[in-house]
Amino acid sequence: MTAAIVGVGSALPERVVPNSHFEAIGSSDEWIVKRTGIRQRHFLPEDGHLADLALAASRTALARSGRTAREVGHVVVATTTPDRATPGLAVEVAARLGADRAAAFDLHAACAGFVYALDHAVALIESGRAGTVLVCGAEALTRITDHEDRSTAVLLGDGAGAVVVADVADATDTDAADTVLGPSVEPAFRLGSDGELIPLLYADRYDRKLRMDGPEIFVQAVERMSEAARDVLARRELTADDVDLFVAHQANARIVRAVGKELGVAPERLYLNVDRVANTSSASIPLALHQAWREGRLGPTGLLGVAAFGAGVTWGAGVIGWRLTEPEADAVEAG
Ligand code: ACO
Repeated sequence: MTAAIVGVGSALPERVVPNSHFEAIGSSDEWIVKRTGIRQRHFLPEDGHLADLALAASRTALARSGRTAREVGHVVVATTTPDRATPGLAVEVAARLGADRAAAFDLHAACAGFVYALDHAVALIESGRAGTVLVCGAEALTRITDHEDRSTAVLLGDGAGAVVVADVADATDTDAADTVLGPSVEPAFRLGSDGELIPLLYADRYDRKLRMDGPEIFVQAVERMSEAARDVLARRELTADDVDLFVAHQANARIVRAVGKELGVAPERLYLNVDRVANTSSASIPLALHQAWREGRLGPTGLLGVAAFGAGVTWGAGVIGWRLTEPEADAVEAG
């Protein structure tokens, strides 16, 4: 049994918000680009439905995977900003996708949510409890943004990304010569949390807006993601050079580059799209992965490294192989 990513998808709201939007609250394009690398983000309208984005991303991922909706055993949506207090997004995504045999639930682990959900999907497949799992990350962070606070408002955006995880142990590896490792590596994950650090980043139930100690979060994010990724690589006896693409949570280009440097990841293997979408929390990694795939940055098979850090604080890192069709063949584009 070897779980791997066999489909990727993403979706973004239509409205693009450039950095100049924040001049009204005392920020500037120059400050934002220099400190974060962000140039624009997408905003969902106030009355927008996040489930629509999650569904579009999931449909693309499923279509690219060659699996049917009825084959999906579990739908897991990582989110902190669902459309309703209850139920979550996953049940709606499963129903509208036609995954009528699937268990469906939301997972809340802030910006680390997607890595937590991916680990869970792998565990379901390895234990034989599911053959195909759809993992989506979807966020409308604008719902919990203080739009008057320049120190946080400039960082956040909305979007969704999804992957399909399935057992690829029986697949004929015709592309084996193209990649050193890829799906032949058993996935590994390291997750962590430290609730003592809640005051560094939180949205409380009355204020409902993200409050953050930016500089301290920066330090913690680099340390925790690097530590977890190092642990995972060591566990599988891998080096950074064995990873074909490393996708860290896109919070800030400086954070991603610092983690890459700590781990010794070559710059061309470090993916960055924070300039185009800003921080989309649990949507960030699958959204980046789909954009990387569309740009031809992923061959048919390869080994992916992921790392994320968020409120809680929560963090995680992992390695997992991918087996994907060529982007030229993609007929179902979203976002
Ligand atoms: N525009 C202009 N000036 C600003 C802005 C802004 N948007 N924000 C802060 N400043 C000012 C500050 O007021 C401060 O001014 P002062 O020196 O006169 O006091 C100065 O810029 C420096 O502020 P710092 O906070 O020290 O700036 P720093 O270099 O640390 O960058 C940043 C701030 C970008 C927030 C950085 O700390 C960071 O990226 N932290 C991590 C963010 C993160 O990953 N958050 C988690 C995600 S949120 C979530 O979980 C969904």
